[in-house]
Amino acid sequence: MRILVTGGAGFIGSHIVDLLVETGCRVSVADNLSSGLFENINPRVNFYKIDIRDQALAEAIAREKPEAVIHLAAQADVQRSLNDPPADASINILGTINLLNACAGYGVGKVVYASTAAVYGNPTYLPVDEDHPAKPQSPYGVSKYTAEHYLRIYGEFSAVNYTVLRFANVYGDRQDSSAEGGVVAIFAAKLLRGESPCIFGDGEQTRDFIYVKDVAAACRAALRRGDSGTFNVSTGAGLSVNHLFRELKKITGSNLEPVYLPPRPGDITHSFLANESACASLGWRPRYSLAEGLRETVARMSGVLSGVLSGGRGC
Ligand SMILES: NC(=O)c1ccc[n+]([C@@H]2O[C@H](COP(=O)([O-])OP(=O)(O)OC[C@H]3O[C@@H](n4cnc5c(N)ncnc54)[C@H](O)[C@@H]3O)[C@@H](O)[C@H]2O)c1
Repeated sequence: MRILVTGGAGFIGSHIVDLLVETGCRVSVADNLSSGLFENINPRVNFYKIDIRDQALAEAIAREKPEAVIHLAAQADVQRSLNDPPADASINILGTINLLNACAGYGVGKVVYASTAAVYGNPTYLPVDEDHPAKPQSPYGVSKYTAEHYLRIYGEFSAVNYTVLRFANVYGDRQDSSAEGGVVAIFAAKLLRGESPCIFGDGEQTRDFIYVKDVAAACRAALRRGDSGTFNVSTGAGLSVNHLFRELKKITGSNLEPVYLPPRPGDITHSFLANESACASLGWRPRYSLAEGLRETVARMSGVLSGVLSGGRGC
């Protein structure tokens, strides 16, 4: 199968690309490397360094003739969306429309869209299923939700089919471990460097942590199933931040304790997503336990970090 992955140089996108290449797909990647990295890109793909808002995207699609697109390219930082809502909307909404136009124009059969649990906002019941009201609490949540509507509209008025996947908290190697990154990447990087991570609040807040390889498998499954559907991609279970810290402490062999700071305003206390619908419709289920996913993540991160540190990381 010929697949174009937008955002294929990013954290999740690069894992999807690796899985597709491994399973014999002909893959191309469109990414402007704004947050993604060239070294994440599988060497067996055709890479287009382009912005998804540009005409160059249609040209890449015309050339590659993908049967399907997995669309991950996005401004994916909640804080940045609060600081600059127009930039967020431009990439996440106008970029998606530009992609859908090109897909409709060049006969792409399907778009699998990487959406987010952020579209739900503060949960009013748990686990959050796909019927939960959508009330996003950030410009990022609004732009991702708006793009979902454009997929539906193009699905109705063109031959482009779609599946929307709403990811829970994805973790794995290649995730940004700076302050704006994912909690697993931040904790693991700190522990590996011998620094104490900070926990906001009492650490008993829960999240649904899903391993990136399980997310990649769900995206692959959605290439052939789940047409016109919207599905949570999650483990279905909430784990506390304290629990996560203890697991990472065990795996890294650290004896450090976290530093507890006051809760951040607006932080959600509990959140986890039902995944029965994805399991039934996509023929998919998460296969990695938290311990397995964290072990793989730490193993890969410690390899990368030791390279960085021996390469003379600055003071
Ligand atoms: N990481 C998570 O936990 C999570 C959770 C829910 C949903 N998502 C969604 O998954 C997708 C991937 O997220 P990620 O965590 O891998 O983030 P990421 O920042 O690592 O990946 C995004 C990729 O898109 C590229 N990109 C950004 N703007 C672009 C543009 N205008 N044109 C072309 N390329 C552009 C970046 O260079 C990067 O490679 C996003 O759509 C995000 O909304 C992520």
